[in-house]
Amino acid sequence: MEHNFWHSKWQKNEIGFHEPQGNALLVKFADMLLGKTNPSSKPMRIFVPLCGKTRDIHWLLSQGADVVGAELSEVAIKQLFDELGVSPTVTVSSKGKIYSHDGLTVFVGDIFELNEDDLGEVNGVYDRAALVALPETLRRQYTNHLATITRHAPQLIISFEYDQNEMAGPPFSVDENTVQALYSDIFDIQLLERSELVGGLKGKVKANNLVFHLHANNMP
Ligand SMILES: C[S@@+](CC[C@H](N)C(=O)[O-])C[C@H]1O[C@@H](n2cnc3c(N)ncnc32)[C@H](O)[C@@H]1O
Repeated sequence: MEHNFWHSKWQKNEIGFHEPQGNALLVKFADMLLGKTNPSSKPMRIFVPLCGKTRDIHWLLSQGADVVGAELSEVAIKQLFDELGVSPTVTVSSKGKIYSHDGLTVFVGDIFELNEDDLGEVNGVYDRAALVALPETLRRQYTNHLATITRHAPQLIISFEYDQNEMAGPPFSVDENTVQALYSDIFDIQLLERSELVGGLKGKVKANNLVFHLHANNMP
């Protein structure tokens, strides 16, 4: 999608993808992302690509994780910090603005501009409504880029599966075969859940939620 598509969505507050209560599947499968026990005394650092103002960031912070986000829309990120009830420090880099407060850092701009040094070390990636937000033409570029800038960190992906003929995206249907085709050269992929999306997608199309865990296949 063009950047203007998303800027306009945020400006008009057309954010049907935003879940005011956060995502229950993150809570259900959080151990896969955060680890049941974290032997290091350092907090886990989780990257949330295309983060919007997701409530899942609030939840991850409440679990003691540090969070790094990337999001095009500054409108979204101002709302994120407002809703967290904190005043961010805003710095300007050559790649855009960086909003931060305590354990939360958000890069405001195009994710494709970020590199691994910008991001720093992350222990996990939480992709909800990010991979599915991108058209097929951008998917391979996104997944290669995401794996590179996170140095093949494990991922928890929440996607949708539905008949693409019944509705134009976004969100696009990203089924198990698609995730395998995009990521199996780097990751072992486990499908953790396939469950019906109650009420259908946008209230009109029958769809399933899919949850995947990805673990680099060259890592212990
Ligand atoms: C479907 S929304 C999902 C937001 C969030 N993950 C959630 O679950 O609520 C996709 C988000 O990706 C952002 N986005 C789209 N393309 C982007 C890009 N190239 N770089 C950074 N953010 C992008 C949009 O502004 C939008 O907020």
